[in-house]
This record gives sequence, structure tokens and C-alpha cells, in this order.
Amino acid sequence: MKLRSSKWFGSKDRDGFIHRSWMKNQGRPDHLFDGRPVIGICNTWSELTPCNTHFRTIADHVKRGVYEAGGFPLEFPVMSMGETLMRPTAMLFRNLVSMDVEESIRANPLDGVILLAGCDKTTPALLMGAASCDIPAIMISGGPMLNGKFQGRDIGSGTDVWRFSEEVRAGLMSECDFLEAESCMNRSAGHCMTMGTASTMASVVEALGIGLPTNAAIPAVDARRYALAHVAGQRIVEMVHEDLRMSKILTRKAFENAIRVVGAIGGSTNAVIHLLAIAARIGVDLTLDDWDQIGRGVPCLVNLMPSGKYLMEDFYYAGGLPAVIEDLGELIHRDALTVNGKTIGENVAGARCYNRDVIKHREEPLTREGGIAVLRGNLCPNGAVLKPSAATPELMKHQGRAVVFETIEDFHARVDDPNLDIDESCVMVLKNCGPRGYPGMPEVGNMPLPQKILKRGITDMVRISDARMSGTAYGTVALHVSPEAAAGGVLALVQDGDQIELNVEERRLQLHIDDAELSRRRSSWQAPPPPSERGYYKLYYEHVMQADRGADLDFLVGGSGVEITRESH
Ligand code: FES
Repeated sequence: MKLRSSKWFGSKDRDGFIHRSWMKNQGRPDHLFDGRPVIGICNTWSELTPCNTHFRTIADHVKRGVYEAGGFPLEFPVMSMGETLMRPTAMLFRNLVSMDVEESIRANPLDGVILLAGCDKTTPALLMGAASCDIPAIMISGGPMLNGKFQGRDIGSGTDVWRFSEEVRAGLMSECDFLEAESCMNRSAGHCMTMGTASTMASVVEALGIGLPTNAAIPAVDARRYALAHVAGQRIVEMVHEDLRMSKILTRKAFENAIRVVGAIGGSTNAVIHLLAIAARIGVDLTLDDWDQIGRGVPCLVNLMPSGKYLMEDFYYAGGLPAVIEDLGELIHRDALTVNGKTIGENVAGARCYNRDVIKHREEPLTREGGIAVLRGNLCPNGAVLKPSAATPELMKHQGRAVVFETIEDFHARVDDPNLDIDESCVMVLKNCGPRGYPGMPEVGNMPLPQKILKRGITDMVRISDARMSGTAYGTVALHVSPEAAAGGVLALVQDGDQIELNVEERRLQLHIDDAELSRRRSSWQAPPPPSERGYYKLYYEHVMQADRGADLDFLVGGSGVEITRESH
């Protein structure tokens, strides 16, 4: 089979000379250009992305495997996205990075790619971009950090930040202890070791079959993470020879498996948006309602923060994702193909659990309802999501008086005002934090509770917004309200004192206002101005779709393959 890369390296003419000769300035001998598979290693390494700083080492191990299998590895960077530093939110740039990935693959002499991702948005961005090329690909996740250790106990990145900061505000933790915890939480290479978005997406990678078995949970600094990278390097060369492209792996069955796995691990609500976007790139018809229908009734088995108490290191030692998938039995399409050429059923056959407190039995799950609830009602005609395993059971059926914050700045300015008219029966509403409104849909939906309520020992209230929340966060929080406020959704019309009803069992989120009053409010509503008149912000604002469509840019849906474009000289 003549490979794509031969169009660059295979000719004896002037263009072939140019393509080979400049590569030889890196000391590459002639035989590397003999028609062997050229494997791109798409790297999101950056010192600005703390979760991905060990990726040059992972890439070196991939190269060993590629060379061993007779391939030619070439590592290339794409824009990275670190969740903790980027403003206004890393999510604003997910689609931009996906374009970087897609065009970097298409423009270069690559026959297959290894995708190195870790911090939250890097995983979907790389999968989206590569899916639009439909090229043979394996994703390797960077792996979670070791457990945080603080004052003799384990602490989880993200989850315990939210918990500690609430305890400081409630007067239960000293500022001195709080600052000490800062050095104890994130103490090795790797991404957040809670079941946050990064760990959820690493599990999704394994469940989709686009990563190798055990990809989800091996700690970043465990030697087995590097061995996995080595094997992936070998395998991608074989995949090129087999023409095993992403579309043969990322089928409808694979997405259904991933949805059920997200339920079983108590995964992040962010997975909803990302999987919708990835599916649309590869041509699989996946909808928001699929999340509810396919995921409903899947029990949460994995006892990890934020839904439970353990961390990813414990999860790996307890058997990791293969043990969970094996336990899910008939809930998984076992004949779905994976990148190692075997089905997911074959991959997990015989997988065992070594700690039943970390990975629960299906008969005695952590919670009976592990999936993502998709809510409907006049407040969210196109849907909103809520994670039952991270919510307070008593609040999942609740009606209360709305306390409205027009923006996150408005929220910060007033939430701790002793005169704020609010009690624990109220429903906190945050507007203008959706894809267009912020822009980028930040993780602010789990609004901290007012200090005067925290001080009374109350730890949860119903909260509603068009924002996302960190996968490490928890609470009875309805997120991703669609259409968002800035796009003229009913959320924009909610006022202080309105009655809002949440009923998770019946999947309802309703604003109890009559239609005439809604029309009256709508007639005086004005859309907020665009965030910028130029650059990527403008492109994003004009083309981003709503959360229920995956918040991708409308013109990026689908793919263009890897057709070879015109010569450059
Ligand atoms: Fe990178 Fe949590 S901050 S995964």
C-alpha cells in the first residue's frame, strides 16, 4: 500500500529533494524515507499546562515503539490548554486547538498519529481535530497525579479546593492550613487525580476504544504509563498498515459505551459537551437526549471524588477501568472494536477488582443513578444537565424563590453581602456564562454558597446557570441551560422572586411564570454586546453552537479527511 507520506518523501524530483533534505538537518538517515509509515506525535506539552509537562518523556517512549515497529516518528506541537491559568476559560480555545490539530495533520506527511492529551480540554480538542481527518490514531492520556497528602490524609485536586475554600469562608479552616494544603495537593506530574474532567475524558478514551486498555488510570509517574506509550507507538504503525482509521473505532456503539462508562465512574458533566462535539466530527448522530436514555439506570460504581471518597491512584490499584467495564456486563457493546485490533469485550475479559470499596458491585453501587440527567422545561427548552451522583438527594425535587445574578462579577460582588435576601430554600440563578455570553462557557456553575448560609452548616443549594462546572465539583447544580441567556434564552428573563421548580426524577426544570409575563419581559430584553470586534473571539462568537450541540463552531462539524493538497513549491 502506498502511503500518504510517499507524496512528500517518495519522489526523486525537486520537491522530493526539498522535503527530505531539510528533514536531514536533524540527522535523519536515508532509510527513514524509504516508504515506511510516518507517525505524527501530536503533543500538548507546555509549561503553561502543568498537567501535561511530562509529555516530552511520554513522546520519547512512543518513538521507541514506532522505531521498533519500522515506522518514522515525528513529534509536533499544537497549542496547549491549561485549565488553571487560561482566561477567560480554556474551553474558549478547545475549538481553536482542534483546528490546529486538524490542519497540522492534513498539511504534513503523516500516515497515522499518536495524540498526547491530559488536562481537560486537550483530550476533546485532539480527538475532534483528528476525527475530522479520519486518520489512524491512538490517544495516550498523560495519567493522573499521585494522591494529594495533607495532614495525614488524602486530598483531591479540585474537589478539596472547593471544600477548603468553603470551610475557610465558614470559619472552619484557618488561612494558614489552607495555604499549607496548596503545597500538598498537586505533588507529581499528571492531571487532576479526582474523577474530574481529565480523568473522565481519559476513561472515555479507553471506553471509546481509541486508547489502549488501562489508559484511563495508570498514574502519570508509574513506569507502566511509559510502557503503554511504547506499545502504542508499536501499534500505530500496524494500524497504518491495516488502514484502521478513527471512523472504524468511533462508531455509535463506541459512543454508547462511553456514555454508560461515564455513568459508572460518576464522570464529569463536561463529557456531555465534548462527546457531542466529537461525534459530530466523525459523523455519528449523537444527541443530548441519548445521554439520558442510554445512561439512565447505569449505577455509579466508582467511589472517587467528587461523588465518593477515593482518588485515581486507588482506582488504578483496584483494577481500573477494565474492571468497571467487565462489571457493566451486558450494558456494554462488547463487540465494539478498539485500537489494539480486539473488541472491548476481549480487552476486559477476566479483568478483576481488587478493592470493592473503590469499585463497587453493581448490586451495591455507590449510587443507583450514575448517569447524567437531561432536564427540560420552559427554562431550558433545548436541555440542561445535572449530575445526580454529585447532588443532594433531598434537593433533587425542589421548588424555590429565584435569587438572580446577572453576571459572575455581579455574583462575586453580592454573594457575601449580609443583606442579600436569600436562604437555603432559594434557587441561585447565574446568567451570561454560556458559550457566547462569557465567552467560552466557564466552569462557574457551582457558585459558592453565601457565607451566611455556610456558617449555619448548610453545604448545598439548588443552583442553575448556562455555565459549566468543573468535573471535580459537586452540588445540586443544573448546568448548560440551552439556549443560554446571551442568546436570548428564557434564562435571560428570570427575575428575583420568580418560582423555579426542579424535579430530577421527572427531568423537569420549570420557571413558573405565565407566557404573557414572559413576552412582556422579552420585549424589553437586549442582547449583550459581542466580546470583541476582531480575532478569534469574533470568529468564535459568531459561529459557536449552543451546549446541546457540543459548543463546536458550526463550520467545523464533520470532516475533510486527509486529502493531499497542492504542492508548496
Ligand atoms: Fe489540568 Fe485539572 S487542572 S486536569
